[in-house]
Amino acid sequence: MQLYYSIFWCTALLGRVKGQSLTPSGTERVIPTLSPQVNALPSLTPTILDSSAPNSQHCPGYKASNLLENDYGFTADLMIAGDNCQAFGNDISHLTLEVSYQSKQRLNVRIYPTHIAPEQESWYILPSNIVDQPEWDGQTTASSSDLSLEWSNDPTFQFRIIRNNNKEELFSTYGHVIVYEDQFLELVTNMIDDYNVYGLAENIHDFWLSNNHTQTFYATDAGNTVDGNVYSAIPFYQETRYHNSTDTTSHGVYARNAHGQEWLLRENGITYRTLGGSFDLYFYSGQKDDGSSSALETIAQFHTQGIGLPAMHMYWTLGFHQARWGWENISVLQEVVDGYRNADVPLECLWNDLDIYDLYRDFTNNEATYPLPEFTRFIESLHANNQHYVPIVDSNIYVSNPDNESDTYGPFERGADLELFIRDPTTGGFYYGDNWPGFSVWGDFLLPATQQWWSKEIIDWHNGTPFDGIWIDLSEASSFCAGSCGYGRLTENPIHPPFLLPGDPLMFDYNYPEGFNVTNATEAASATAASASQSSAMSASPVLPSPTTTTRGRTEPTPGVRNLNFPPYVINNVQAGHALGKSAIAPNATHNNQYNTTEYDWHNLFGYQISNATYHALLELFPGRRPFTVGRSVFAGSGKTTGHWGGDNTSTWGSMFLSISQALTMMMSGIPMFGADTCGFARNTDFQLCSRWMELSAFFPFYRNHNVKATIGQEAYRWSSVAEASRRAMKVRYSLLTYMYTLFYYAHTEGATVMRALAWEFPNDVSLRKTYAQFMLGPSILVTPVLEPNVDTVRGVFPGVGEGERWYDWYSLEEVRAGPGENVTMEAPLEHINVHVRGGSVIALQQPRLTVEETKNTSYSLLVALDGDGKASGSLYLDDGVSLVQEATRLVTFSYADNCLAYSSEGSYHAAQPLDNVTITGLGAPRNNSTGRNGLYKGWSSAPKHVSMQYGKTNHSTDTLHMNYDVGIGVLRMSGVEQYTSDGAFEGDMKLCFEE
Ligand code: GLC
Repeated sequence: MQLYYSIFWCTALLGRVKGQSLTPSGTERVIPTLSPQVNALPSLTPTILDSSAPNSQHCPGYKASNLLENDYGFTADLMIAGDNCQAFGNDISHLTLEVSYQSKQRLNVRIYPTHIAPEQESWYILPSNIVDQPEWDGQTTASSSDLSLEWSNDPTFQFRIIRNNNKEELFSTYGHVIVYEDQFLELVTNMIDDYNVYGLAENIHDFWLSNNHTQTFYATDAGNTVDGNVYSAIPFYQETRYHNSTDTTSHGVYARNAHGQEWLLRENGITYRTLGGSFDLYFYSGQKDDGSSSALETIAQFHTQGIGLPAMHMYWTLGFHQARWGWENISVLQEVVDGYRNADVPLECLWNDLDIYDLYRDFTNNEATYPLPEFTRFIESLHANNQHYVPIVDSNIYVSNPDNESDTYGPFERGADLELFIRDPTTGGFYYGDNWPGFSVWGDFLLPATQQWWSKEIIDWHNGTPFDGIWIDLSEASSFCAGSCGYGRLTENPIHPPFLLPGDPLMFDYNYPEGFNVTNATEAASATAASASQSSAMSASPVLPSPTTTTRGRTEPTPGVRNLNFPPYVINNVQAGHALGKSAIAPNATHNNQYNTTEYDWHNLFGYQISNATYHALLELFPGRRPFTVGRSVFAGSGKTTGHWGGDNTSTWGSMFLSISQALTMMMSGIPMFGADTCGFARNTDFQLCSRWMELSAFFPFYRNHNVKATIGQEAYRWSSVAEASRRAMKVRYSLLTYMYTLFYYAHTEGATVMRALAWEFPNDVSLRKTYAQFMLGPSILVTPVLEPNVDTVRGVFPGVGEGERWYDWYSLEEVRAGPGENVTMEAPLEHINVHVRGGSVIALQQPRLTVEETKNTSYSLLVALDGDGKASGSLYLDDGVSLVQEATRLVTFSYADNCLAYSSEGSYHAAQPLDNVTITGLGAPRNNSTGRNGLYKGWSSAPKHVSMQYGKTNHSTDTLHMNYDVGIGVLRMSGVEQYTSDGAFEGDMKLCFEE
């Protein structure tokens, strides 16, 4: 929450609110006399834009020697091949190279300084106890690997990675030098023409990254800046090569390094640059045993053999969540809960933002507006209705005013007594940054004692605020001023941040989405007028001088010195002025571990660590239960402990569109519990955008509507169209909850993805390589959302129809008529989202209700959608939905072939609900390819003459089953099955056969 209130603008406003009371509980907050320069670090020129910057490829490179073969690869010395070049740091002359064939699919190349002084350990080495570091599997050798590494010393050390079975070169530094300095590492790989690279999350960018893009990684609090660095860093890319669209291959590259870094995707190559650390590169072949490779397999290998598999979340978390910043009190919360129930729109979980807190301080209560115990009773009333509650916890900890005895704040005082906070190296004391509550400190999660402190604060807080999960915010870690700005000024606390906040006077947001002026012309006109008058009220007041921005020249490397706050290489940080200290704890802030690790080295891991600590706190609070958190800043491997939301997006059509590619890259990153702020965070939404967005997000794993203070409310029941759109989309989602949960099960056990790009499911179709306006949920559900205003149709493709693939409309079950590659125009009235089921799928469904628990207690039905061979298959995973370690699970496998539907299961979990009915679609002859895949399936021309059913060990009479065959669309609907499955739908094996 920073970008929207730019420092210039906000500082300018500051003068007018002096003396006003701005606190929720009415306490006077000091408006800072911070100079306008408070956040005004000098402006830097990003190196990629600096024509005077040295060319690091003129560095001498290294020569390899002393090769030592071992069981799994080799090691060598790399000695600098000329004079130090001091491009953007001090050259390291002697490096160690390790090449390991770690598994059949994974080859690792590590390059790191041979001699590391103990106090420099964390400059270069990312500990494996913090971020998973894959090692040799104990059996793979160079000869059994899918990949091989070739190298040369001519003219300097260079290497390439080859896929053995087709000899394609996947990665190659040939023709480029390797640069290794204390503040700068560089490696360049050649790429094929028009390459297809995906991933490098987190980015707000097209799904296909293009060959003209720079991805900067430096966790930042700057909203959803298109093409910039955002909240998170997952340095992994996947590359697809189409060859002749018959034998598409895929591989992946993971660079395990947490430093600030940049990936320069250019026409002929990718340049990888970091501000420190080591090269720890993992190449994934993406191959299966049969030698074929795919994007899905590559991604799975990255999860299973790289960063660790994502957590299995509690079942209820798949329900719909509503949040907002700006719900003033408990009555407003009650109105929201009632609003949803009265509108018949499911609400699973209510989220509170900072409004609950006293003066923005974590773990407190605003006694004026959220008094205890009334608030506790309110949360308990949610629980009594099978609903849930999640509050926000900010990463900053307010510092009590040392001169004000009544300004006590336990979480700070307890942490301070134990010396648990990140330190300011210039004073030796704590690092005092600034955030919503005023001058603040940050927990040092490298210390074990910090975990104990954090857990205790969370557990104690739960007594009055019985939450079910935690929303971790500002974990970049965000700070609103430059450096340890509170040093010597703590007596001013609780100081107001150096700019106005949403909800402060003159801060109403009058922006509306594109197209609003068409559908809401009158409101648009009055918003424009109100905006103008707000602006003139602002300009009528005296303003503080605008910050004079100084420009700082390039830092020259100094032997023996690392310049942390202004490193010689300037990454293209999106923050105005580009300095690393902008809106974040400064790089020189220091941890208390044995190496005194600095934020320079660990900045991208703060969010990862606080989410991890919160996960463990929740485990202590709810022993045996799966912890539920979503965090704003994540790193590779965060999915093991947390979900993630897309941060501060905007109520615009473009923001909605880009949330799909953002989600796909999060699936690649092993963080499947992902969703964007539905209907948009910043700015006002409107009924059109919100209807479409509620529809779209219903197919994202994490489904939450959230918006900022000082904008209009956007709960789904506020407009009839949004309510209707939500009801309809949620009916689909809640019917599919067991399907989604099963997708999570495969993500959690095999590294499968929950949402999928069409390119992943149809790897030989080159026309899909850039597509993300349509996507899939698992292998079976195709979603075609409307992503633009003022339309009531949408165009979409139906991949594979030329090769016998079949698609069915979710609502009518009718098979789609489409030609190969045809962009089909579909009806898309405002309340309708196009959803299609892929032929070849068997999906278990339940009946949508207002909560996940109620839905879970309804009987099952099966939807069978036949492929071009008249076949289908699927699976269903069941467990108690809550326990970290399950006592019993059940995995049901479905198949349909030769007119028989069968299922059997493994495991002992008992699902008490019966199976009610079975629906089969696709029984008519295929519409788009009448010969089917093998030319065998002709379809039924009339209802089946006879049906037999075996459930468990018994053959049942089928006389009482009710059957209806719609010959026109080839759909058979069979009901009455529950009489035989009353002990639970999947307790026995089922075989149901039809005779034509
Ligand atoms: C940040 C979060 C946003 C939250 C706000 C106030 O901007 O990203 O979701 O509403 O802070 O806590």
